[in-house]
Amino acid sequence: MKFIGEIDLANKTVYCRCDYNVPLDENRNIIEDWRIRASLPTIRHALGKSARVVVISHLGRPKGNPVPEMSLAPVARRLSELLEKEVALLPDCIGDEVRSSVKKMKPGEIVMLENLRFHPEETKNDDAFARELAAGADVYINDAFGNAHRSHASNVGIVRHVAECGIGYLMKSELDYFEAALENPVRPFVAVLGGSKVSDKLEAIENLSKRVDKLIIGGGMAFTFLKASGFEVGCSLVENNLIEAAQRGMDKAKEKGVKLYFPVDAVIAQKPAPGEANMIVPVQEIPEDWMGLDIGPASTRLFAEVLADAKTVVWNGPMGVFEIDAFSRGTYAMAHAIAETHAMTVIGGGDTDAAVQKAGESENMTFISTGGGAFLWLMQGHKLPSIEALERHESSRG
Ligand code: 3PG
Repeated sequence: MKFIGEIDLANKTVYCRCDYNVPLDENRNIIEDWRIRASLPTIRHALGKSARVVVISHLGRPKGNPVPEMSLAPVARRLSELLEKEVALLPDCIGDEVRSSVKKMKPGEIVMLENLRFHPEETKNDDAFARELAAGADVYINDAFGNAHRSHASNVGIVRHVAECGIGYLMKSELDYFEAALENPVRPFVAVLGGSKVSDKLEAIENLSKRVDKLIIGGGMAFTFLKASGFEVGCSLVENNLIEAAQRGMDKAKEKGVKLYFPVDAVIAQKPAPGEANMIVPVQEIPEDWMGLDIGPASTRLFAEVLADAKTVVWNGPMGVFEIDAFSRGTYAMAHAIAETHAMTVIGGGDTDAAVQKAGESENMTFISTGGGAFLWLMQGHKLPSIEALERHESSRG
């Protein structure tokens, strides 16, 4: 698989697949532009080499329809501000008008095509659509890590129709940091998993158990494990159908010699709502009609202690309902504890990224992934289809 730096881009039309699936508010203002900023090194590189840069992306899930609220217009404006350069948004991603506008581009110019998912063929990885999308491209660069676990026309099918393909700076960093953490970790290697659902994380726990020295489990998902260990956890979130699977997950981790850590106390309330009365109790003492919504201070101290000697840390998933102030302290404390380690720290998942930012610790982490689903996919031990497509492309060229 080639890196953009190895490809001659001069005077070429370079299609750059980015993941600009960014959160927008009700007025369609961008709430968080981190994914746009993260694409700048690749775009600047291509423009600096006098390429004609055509940026392609999806936004949201418009289900194959041209939904005006999901237009990439705010993203094109933001990218233009960041580059201090005009970024015209073309009205579609395929068709005669797009093709003729791209043909007229001059070296060093950049345009953005409209949301790929306005066409149902994109998510179906339709070959005819992929061919049409690729029609004007001399070079295809995939820099869309956030979408890399999907098999769509713009990140898998397209590769068959462009002569020269490779990855950009962001994709390379994502893959390099992930490999450094998961494949060649400096030990002790500690993984921290949180978030609400066990169902999302069981496969990741199984895969991580082959690699880590210690595994900390917090967030809503911890209660299914605590229940599996015989605790009564009130009306905390428990996935009853996964209690046995959680038990098997713990057994397997122990067989591999992984040290497992769960919360010992919790911030509890009767509802996950702002202003609700709350209290801190040991996990053994959660009343029947109360639920755990954050880890408590004793858990925070325990987890900080567990992390103290770490040399590699991977964190995915908050420790509680951190969007509500009363249940946010555990997640922020975890961000501070991880930032204070002398470890390589790799953070993944949209919620975790937001928590680290709110805690003011972004600058103190080694790497914050732009991927949510894609990061989890890798943690589960799967290969990314878009990367496999690029590898096949390269090997078919001999
Ligand atoms: C993401 O935001 O995780 C990616 O852009 C993928 O989006 P999707 O889950 O709608 O495919």
